[in-house]
This record gives sequence, C-alpha cells and structure tokens, in this order.
Amino acid sequence: MRILYLLLLTVFVQLSFAQSIYKDKKAPVENRIKDLVSKMTLEEKILQLNQYNAGRNTNVNNIGAEIKEIPSGIGSLIFFSADPELRNQIQKKAVEESRLGIPILFGFDVIHGFRTVYPISLAQACSWNTDLVTQASSIAAKEACLSGIDWTFSPMIDVARDPRWGRVSEGYGEDPYTNALFGVATVKGYQGKDLSDPYSIAACLKHYVGYGMSEGGRDYHYSDVSPQSLWETYLVPYQACVKAGAATLMSAFNDISGVPASANHYTLTEILKNRWGHDGFVVSDWNSVEQLIAQGVAKDRKEAGLKAFMAGVEMDMMDKVYLENLQQLIAEKKIPMSRIDDAVARILRVKFRLGLFDQPYTTVVAEKDRYLQPESRAVASKLAEESMVLLKNKEGVLPLSSDVKKLAVIGPMAKDKSNLLGSWSYNGRENEVESIYEGLEKEFTNKVQLNYAKGCTFDGSDESGFDEAVSVASQSDVILVCLGEEKKWSGENASRSTIALPSIQEKLVASLRKTGKPIVLVLSNGRPLELVRLEPMSNAILEIWQPGVAGGSPMAGILSGRVNPSGKLSITFPLTTGQIPTYYDMRQSSRPTSGRYQDIPTEPLYWFGHGLSYTTFAYDAAKLSATKISKTQKLTVEVTVTNTGNVKGKETVLWYVSDPACSISRPMKELKFFEKKEINAGEKTVFKFEVDPMRDLSFTDSDGKRILEEGDYYIHVNNQKLKVELVK
Ligand code: BGC
Repeated sequence: MRILYLLLLTVFVQLSFAQSIYKDKKAPVENRIKDLVSKMTLEEKILQLNQYNAGRNTNVNNIGAEIKEIPSGIGSLIFFSADPELRNQIQKKAVEESRLGIPILFGFDVIHGFRTVYPISLAQACSWNTDLVTQASSIAAKEACLSGIDWTFSPMIDVARDPRWGRVSEGYGEDPYTNALFGVATVKGYQGKDLSDPYSIAACLKHYVGYGMSEGGRDYHYSDVSPQSLWETYLVPYQACVKAGAATLMSAFNDISGVPASANHYTLTEILKNRWGHDGFVVSDWNSVEQLIAQGVAKDRKEAGLKAFMAGVEMDMMDKVYLENLQQLIAEKKIPMSRIDDAVARILRVKFRLGLFDQPYTTVVAEKDRYLQPESRAVASKLAEESMVLLKNKEGVLPLSSDVKKLAVIGPMAKDKSNLLGSWSYNGRENEVESIYEGLEKEFTNKVQLNYAKGCTFDGSDESGFDEAVSVASQSDVILVCLGEEKKWSGENASRSTIALPSIQEKLVASLRKTGKPIVLVLSNGRPLELVRLEPMSNAILEIWQPGVAGGSPMAGILSGRVNPSGKLSITFPLTTGQIPTYYDMRQSSRPTSGRYQDIPTEPLYWFGHGLSYTTFAYDAAKLSATKISKTQKLTVEVTVTNTGNVKGKETVLWYVSDPACSISRPMKELKFFEKKEINAGEKTVFKFEVDPMRDLSFTDSDGKRILEEGDYYIHVNNQKLKVELVK
C-alpha cells in the first residue's frame, strides 16, 4: 500500500513538473516554448499575435476601466505611459488572471532617447562615433525599462535619399553601410550583452524594407524598389543588424516591386527567416495589415490578414485583423496550424529571452532616480557635440575671437526649447532642455554681452520684429542667427515639398546682412536644408540638428572654441530642392560630364562626409600592402594623417571603393569603412583599412548572391585614389 502510494506520488510530481516546464527557469528556452505552445488553445494563440495600446489615458480614475478592457491573454501592448506601476497592474492581470499566465510584452517608440532625449538619429550618424551611440542607446534602454517598457520600435535603418521625406530625421542618412553600423551600435545598446540583463530591451528594426524610397518623398506612398537596389542598398543594414541579434523587425507601409512590404513573402520569409535564420518575430506597422486593402492587394480585412500572416508578419499592430479573422482562416484550412504555432513560438521566444516569464514586473524606483542621471546628460551632451557639423567658416570667423565683446543672438530658435527635441520625443520635457541661449549664457558670462531679439517666428509673414533685430545687430560685433524647423516638420507624415526654410527666416537674414556685421548661422532642423540663398549671406554655418536635451552648451562651446567641431554629414545637402535626389553613391552614367542642369549647378552644396574643423589635417600619400592580390588575399591600406593646425581635433577617415568596369554598373564609390581618432596639434596618426575582397569589393546580384570579379578596383581616401588589381 505504502509502495503504491509512493509510486503514485512520484508519478504525480513528475506529471506536474512535466506540465510546467515552461515555468521552469532552468529549462532550455526551446523546451519551455514547446511545452507552453502545446498547452495553449487556439484562442490563446491568436491573442498572442495581437498588439493593442494602453496608457494614453491620463485620467487616474479611469485606469481601472482601461485595464478591464485589455484581454489578459494579449500578446503585446504599445505602452503610452511611463508609469511602471500601471504596467505592473496590467501585467498582474496577465500573469494572474490568464489561464497560463503569459506575460505581456510592453512596446514603445524609444527613438532617440527616452526622457534623456539625444540628438535625432540622422545627427547621431554625423558623429561617426558608434561607441557613443551604443552608450546613449543603453541609457535609453535603462530609462525605458524603469518606465515599464520591454521593447522599442527602433532603430530605423531605412536608407533615405530624399530629404523631403520627413522620416530622414529618424534614420542614419543616405548610405547603406553607415545605416548598418549605427543600426548595429544601437541594437547593441538596447539589447546589451544578453536580452535578459536587467536593463536590456528588445530592438525592432524598421521599417522592413525600402520605406526610405517613398516616391517624391511623400510619406506612405508607393516605393519603386528594384530587386537590385533592394539587395544593394535597402537590405544591407537589415542584414547586419539581424546578424547582430536584433530580436524583432517591423514590416513597412511601402511596396517592393509592386508587392507591399507587409505582404511580401520574399523579404519576410525567404530572406529574413529562411536565408538569414532570424528566429524572433515581425510586427506589422500600425494598421499596415488592414492597409493592404488600400494598397490594392486585398479585397477585405480577411484577405489582408491572410496575406500578411502567410507572408511572415507574426504580430498585428493595432488593427485587430488577426484577432477577427485568423480562426476562420484556420477553419477554412487557408492557414495551417503549424504556421500559427511557429508564429506564437517566435513571440514567446522573445518573451522568454527577455526573462519576462521569470520577472514579469518592473522594479519601481523613485522618479528622480529613473531619468536624466548626470551620466545620461553627459552622454547626451557629448553626442550632441560630436554630431554638430560646421558647414562653413569663411575667414575663420569661428571660433569667435576675443575681440568679440557683444554678440547679437537673433532668431526663432535662439530661446526655443521644444523644437530642439525633434520628433518622437514623447517623454521629453521642454523644461529639461537647454536652449541655445542658455548654453551661450553659461559659456560667455562676464566675457561677451548677449543682445537678444527674436526677429520673427518660424513661419508666416510677420516682419514686425525685424527692426528690433537689426538695431540689436548693429550694436553688436557678430550676429548669431538661430533658425530652423519646428519639430513637427519632420518625422512621420511630415513630408515637405521644399527643403528651404520658410521665406520669413531668409528675409530676416537678408535684413541683418545690411548691418555689414559678420553673420554666423546656427541651424536646427530634421533634414538637409536648401541653403542656396542663406549660404552666400552667412560667414559661418553651424548645423546643430535637433540635439535633444543638451545641445546649448556644446553649440556654445563650438562658438567659443572650447570644443573643436568634428561632425561630418551623413547625408548630402542639395543646393536646391530641384536637385533631389543627390547622394554620393549615385551610379555611373553614360555621359558623366554632360546632362547637367542648365539653370543651376549640378553639384550639391555640401556632400555626404563634409564637415569642417578648427584645425587642419594633412594626409600623406596612402600606401597599399600590395597592388595586385588574389580574390582570397587580404590587403591593407594605410594613410598617415597629421594635425597641422594649432589645436587638437578629431578626424574621421572615410574609406571608399569603386569598380569602374564590372558586369553591372556600380555606384561611383561606396563607403566600406570609417574610423574617428583624436590627434593632438602637430602630431600624426596612422589610419588603416583592412580590405577583404569578398566583403569590400564584391557586388550583389538581384537575388543577394555576392559576386567577386577579377579586374581593377580603386580605394578612395580623402582626395586620393589607389588602384588594386584583383586576379584569380
Ligand atoms: C510608425 C512606426 C511606429 C509605429 C508605432 C507607425 O505609424 O510608422 O514607426 O513605430 O507607428 O508608434
């Protein structure tokens, strides 16, 4: 009897252990997933494939009602709140009230910082400092984590060459390699060494893929992405970031050769899952499943759901198409159960890897310990400093000489705070931003008198402030004019037909010009600008982008000379809007010296890579370790750079390659490596580029196959061009 009892007990214990493998922290993740999926009903599975939103409601009295409306088994929520306690209340419902206790994944757009807002991504890339970007993203992850967020819809790695498109501000510019490297740096910062680290959040690469190609820069419009440019340009950063371990991706609003990105089996399944082996999941962009109807490939929501799901979109953001239709589609055998199980497993995998099953709740710390810690501000300031680009400096008007005793500070951006935050700064607070004027006050107290006048607003036709501005300017030694774009002029759904600043701002400069005093233009904007009229009126131009919370001091430091500017453009500034598209890696063409515009120069105002310093750098002749190599040999190119000026400075060396005769026409040159180093005045440093022919000289065909041909290649550095012969 006793033996029988013991036997039964053992069987019972074993059974219950077997039943809860998914709850066993020590069990391998794949076993936990398998166990959990096997226990789920179809309704439970479908709920995991959906994302709702929560937390926009700021009325505390209604929070209870709001939580009640959230199904306890929902897969994910977009968390429009920064309140960890609200998250925990919602999570409690999932963990304690749903049958299997599956935690909810809380996502949010943490784009360029959370409460510590950093410069916009386009600016970050101008720093050419990937380590700093990793640090900033890691702090953003910590602030987000402490606010109840597990997953960010970032980085945006859409190569973008049309600055009319408002979303150029959200990515890392016009070059695939730059987007790849800054994307990887950002993913590393968010995800840390391991997703289960206490302050790691999951990254989401977006918008997969080709969204940057939107026709005419109009957001949400058709994009004509050829198979060749898909592989050569748009997939490049995605492949790098998937390799770096990015947990999730977001499917885009655009089209790839006629097939919408959110219904594209080739990109979502064949490439991402089958070839690259991505085992996380894809979330649709907001309503992008339902929008397949508007894009003309689905007759109704049900067909839209079928197409998106079968193409490889596992989670439906916001539009409830999956919730309402998947069950029926399964009953009709249009979607096999195995696909549902795979989709659920992918979502659960990310939840397990984040450690959500073992620690579903956010640790609540006092608000003062959550955000804007001194080290976070320091990183924000450093990143702002390195991302600012000195575009013009005629006759060395900058740094301001000690003879400058009175500085006129004019323009709508001078005392503005909110616009310095840029778009997607939902948790940023205006009162935590250091304005340009405040930065100047700190830098120049007791040294330079600041004479302020606003002059005009960002837009409109009111010139009534011009007289005061001119009078203030006439009493000063140098005029600082602070112009730019409002933050709502860039970001999502913020396309502009012209990239010029509104004429009122240009007119202000024209009237200040009459004083004959030197004009220093400080620009804060989310895209390259048309400066064809402003540039000739300015002695110096400093691009500070939308620098986030800590731009004032770095900007003032550049003016005073305390900081030597080191940013270089990650995107070309066309001379006029009519020159769009203009980017450095345009393809070779049949008559390179003709076919130009008859009415304006064809050269842009500032090329990708442009950026001035207060010192000068001299490049020695670059040296190749060999001029002829086989396809499997590696090659080293070195160049010695000397700081020939009087102050220390940081130089970024950009290494490009070109292939003038190949079986396809290739870009004029392609960036393959960059490195930034500080060099003391009078000292020299060697920069090296290790060329791996298969990685750096090959090209891709229109299905992603890399091809390396024999022949002559060129390595470009600064103004030098070195020939390398590649033999069998
Ligand atoms: C945007 C995405 C964003 C999502 C969630 C969409 O409209 O295109 O970039 O992540 O909304 O806020």
